[in-house]
Amino acid sequence: MKRKLIAGNWKMNGNAAANESLVRAVLAGMGDAACTVAVCVPAPYLAQVQALRAGTALELGAQDVSEHAQGAYTGEVSADMLREFGVRYVIVGHSERRQYHAESDAVVAEKVKAALAAGITPIVCVGETLAQREEGRTSAIVKRQMAAVIHTNGHCISEIAVAYEPVWAIGTGRTATPEQAQEVHAVLRAQLKAATEHADRVLILYGGSMNAANAVSLLAQPDIDGGLIGGASLKAPDFLQIIAAAR
Ligand code: 13P
Repeated sequence: MKRKLIAGNWKMNGNAAANESLVRAVLAGMGDAACTVAVCVPAPYLAQVQALRAGTALELGAQDVSEHAQGAYTGEVSADMLREFGVRYVIVGHSERRQYHAESDAVVAEKVKAALAAGITPIVCVGETLAQREEGRTSAIVKRQMAAVIHTNGHCISEIAVAYEPVWAIGTGRTATPEQAQEVHAVLRAQLKAATEHADRVLILYGGSMNAANAVSLLAQPDIDGGLIGGASLKAPDFLQIIAAAR
């Protein structure tokens, strides 16, 4: 059995005091977790959380990375900079970045390349909007998003993680059913299989209103290898219940 990954995406939430109590509570409760656990924190808090997690099994993640290695890109953070803070995962192509920061499939693919070059595992987010689902275009949309990443990264694609995050399920309390999620995960797995013989080792996470109540049934699906958790990752008891469900 593959070890599952439960990653919290704090988004733009937290402050030094709240982060400390949240991380301490997660560390106190996660014990010898059966899955890999990570928190993807806002960039200014990487050093703080790096120190809090030192010597523990909690992994550190970031929420975005520049596609460029260095230079005149005001406000951007490079993969090498993330690496210096012990970052192991970086979320790339989250729908909020695609929507509010106009990140194209091509830019997302370049960001994946930059992360891989620094030895950081990109968690590549794909997902359809409600309108796209209702038009029956879900598979076509996620395949298009993934195809750009495969095209740019070739055989290195086996080193990524993927998160299927239906846009209509993010922060809405409306979760994809386990069957709906599994169907899309299977599409993505098949696409990865056509690109690499190591597709089975790529972790495909589900994200979108995942919580303590629905985690067990989602994580029971054959192609759901973990979760990318937004709101519920900000509350230690909820996050810990999801961690406990991932075995
Ligand atoms: P919620 O869990 O708050 O729906 O957010 C999901 C998400 O966007 C994780 O990246």
